[in-house]
This record gives sequence, structure tokens and C-alpha cells, in this order.
Amino acid sequence: MRRKIVAANWKMNGSLELVQKLVPAVRDGVAALDNGLEVVIMPPSIYLGQVRELLSGSSIAVGVQNVAQWQSGAYTGEIAAGMAADAGCQYALVGHSERRQLFDETDELVAGKVARILESGLQAMVCVGETLEERESGDAETVVCRQLEGALKGLSAGDASKVIVAYEPVWAIGTGKTATAEDAQAMHEAIRRKLVELGLPGNAMSVLYGGSVKPDNAAALFAKPDIDGGLIGGASLKAEDFIAICQAGIS
Ligand code: PGA
Repeated sequence: MRRKIVAANWKMNGSLELVQKLVPAVRDGVAALDNGLEVVIMPPSIYLGQVRELLSGSSIAVGVQNVAQWQSGAYTGEIAAGMAADAGCQYALVGHSERRQLFDETDELVAGKVARILESGLQAMVCVGETLEERESGDAETVVCRQLEGALKGLSAGDASKVIVAYEPVWAIGTGKTATAEDAQAMHEAIRRKLVELGLPGNAMSVLYGGSVKPDNAAALFAKPDIDGGLIGGASLKAEDFIAICQAGIS
């Protein structure tokens, strides 16, 4: 079933002080909305315990920004999907463009991580998106479809209910440039077509948009029929902005 989701990706930002201020403010702001929106916070993993404690009794879920492609073992510095589940996470982000670009994550690696995430009972939030160069050369759809196929090929339709796709054009991330709601809608439609081609229930899966989503553009994006919510970076670090975006998610 398609769910409306707004997820916060804090990236490598914040401090204990920020956690203690931001999380209660978001918790109370989201509780006051009292709508069917699913809200997820993905802080740096080291703060998961504190974030969960501050969210106790709240409907807001927590997630990790990355997991290892292995189950366990001598992989210094890595975190397994099973550990994220133990720590109370329900979601794991995978294939974010920063991971693909800065840590050389390939489609194959992303597929391995998706498998570990699903084995651990978590939901995978799989990011796809083209670079500016790829968009300008007319290859945006081809690139996004290749990433989807690489990450999700062979997935069963049952597993697909545990997968959320996040379309994040790389040129829109942290730049203040957003895809127009029309361009984003067109890509979301293409994503659903590709999911169906892969044998997955593309029309029943949630597909989020990410990339410079702010309070002033969220409503237009979320109003599009194939955009089921957002993955929010910079604006998720300000309670007021994040709550305003969550509010836009219901209209
Ligand atoms: P942004 O980041 O909202 O700061 O553009 C989104 C993301 O990278 O998930």
C-alpha cells in the first residue's frame, strides 16, 4: 500500500545538544499534526539511543543512513542492518548519492545492502537520481532505471512492500535547486513504470522526492499524484522547517 512518508536525513550533522533540542520539538510538532503521515528521523547512528529515548511514546520512527553489505565480522567501523534493527530502527537508507559518489558505492553493492536490510526486517529506503550532466545529456531516465534495476532486480513482490524509493536528483541535493514539481512527477511516473517492468507492484509502492525540499516548495511537490512524500536533508535540521514540510505532506 502506498504510504505518505516524510523522512529526515540529518547526514553527518548535529551534536548531542542539537539532538536534545531538535527531537522534542519535532516530536511535539508532528504529534500536533495528528495525520496519517509517517515521519522518520535518520540521525547519525551514534545518537540513535538518545533519539529513540526522546521519541518514546511518539509515532515517529527512526532509521540509519547506511548499513554494511555484510551480516557481521571483521569490518571495522561498519554497522550491520541487524544491529540497526536491534537499536530500534525501522528504516535504513541505502544508495544515497553521497555514498555512491564519495564512497564508490555501485549498484551491485547497493543491492547487497538492500538484501541485508530486508533480511533484518527493516524497510529499505533506496535512493536513485541522476547528475546534472546526465540530465543535460538526456540520460536522466536511463540512469535512474539502471539504478533501480541494479538495486531491486530479483526482489519478490512481497519484499517490495518493505521498499521505498527516493528519487533525489544529485544536482538538487543541498544546492537550493529543486526539480520542478512537473519534472519530479514525470520521473516518479517513469520510476513506477520501471518497477512494474521489474515485476514489482510499482503503483502500490511509496516513491519519495528529495533534493532541496523546503517549506515553500513541499506542498507543490507533494500535491503531484506520484510523489508520496519527501526525503529531507538540510531542512530537517530546523524543527520549524521540518514540521512545516510534514504539514505540507497532508494537504
Ligand atoms: P537536501 O538533502 O534536502 O539538503 O537537498 C536531501 C538528501 O540528500 O537526502
